Amino acid sequence: EVWNPSGKYRVVSTKSMPGTRWIKLLTDNDCRLEICTEKKTILSVDDILALIGDHCHGVIGQLTEDWGEVLFSALKRAGGTAFSNMAVGYNNVDVDAANKNGIAIGNTPGVLTETTAELAASLSVAAARRIVEADQFMRAGLYDGWLPHLFVGNLLKGQTVGVIGAGRIGSAYARMMIEGFKMNLIYFDLYQSTRLEKFVTAYGQFLKANGEQPVTWKRASSMEEVLREADVISLHPVLDKTTYHLINPERLAMMKKEAVLVNASRGPVIDEVALVEHLKANPMFRVGLDVFEDEPYMKPGLAEMKNAVVVPHIASASKWTREGMATLAALNVLGKIKGYPVWGNPNA
Ligand code: DGY
Repeated sequence: EVWNPSGKYRVVSTKSMPGTRWIKLLTDNDCRLEICTEKKTILSVDDILALIGDHCHGVIGQLTEDWGEVLFSALKRAGGTAFSNMAVGYNNVDVDAANKNGIAIGNTPGVLTETTAELAASLSVAAARRIVEADQFMRAGLYDGWLPHLFVGNLLKGQTVGVIGAGRIGSAYARMMIEGFKMNLIYFDLYQSTRLEKFVTAYGQFLKANGEQPVTWKRASSMEEVLREADVISLHPVLDKTTYHLINPERLAMMKKEAVLVNASRGPVIDEVALVEHLKANPMFRVGLDVFEDEPYMKPGLAEMKNAVVVPHIASASKWTREGMATLAALNVLGKIKGYPVWGNPNA
């Protein structure tokens, strides 16, 4: 699909993206925009090489693509200087290879903070209250009347929420769980999240002033402390060599038998084979997963686990957010081509 064929700068988007603002932004600014209409979900390096061709100023790509030396050098040869991932995470991008080839990289932070945190919060509640399991039971026609033991789950109020990685999304998630469910907080982050601490302190004072039990918070000195003490744990680190299989058999064993573990960051942060074993051995342990180690696949056995809620990497999937991500990605590429500031800029 080609927009503004006579535009001076050739920009390629490897996927169609929501909304029209991003298209207008590029075409109003002298770009010839080519949107790939290939039906298969994941494009190979060869598919993308063909899209870049021998003349291309910038590319908007997706987290499912492998952006390394081969693609960045091809983009450089084609006269390109700009690439933006339509995602905040950029573990699919080899930043060194981009730097080496003089390609600026953009990502899309900010617009997806609340949406992603909302999904992590939803998975937490769905897992704690066994909502998906109960839904399946209902649809199977198995409900034959109220019972004292039917789908008994965990009450969140007064329990402790544990956050690993208290950046933008982790902090927004913590705020939702504290304010929404009056949970206490324990978090671990390499940096101190003063914004989060100020919020919990102020909210605790508000509860106290209203005659309610104030919530408490603690900054853990290790990740293990969070795993041992929290009832609901949500993972929000970036994926890199240091966070690959952060959740391994030893760390799973540290968690409470009835804990809830949520992951809306990147799949390889959890050793998924070990997780399946843990779910089998501990039926009261529950997980809510938005991401998987080998997307789009789940490790054998996970789909059969009743104590797992699984959704297909949809944490940022709200209309407003996805349109915002598309616009930011377009702005990043346009910015570099035209010399404006690049929004997300991991290799700055
Ligand atoms: C991201 O942006 O990194 C998410 O995984 C997709 O929104």
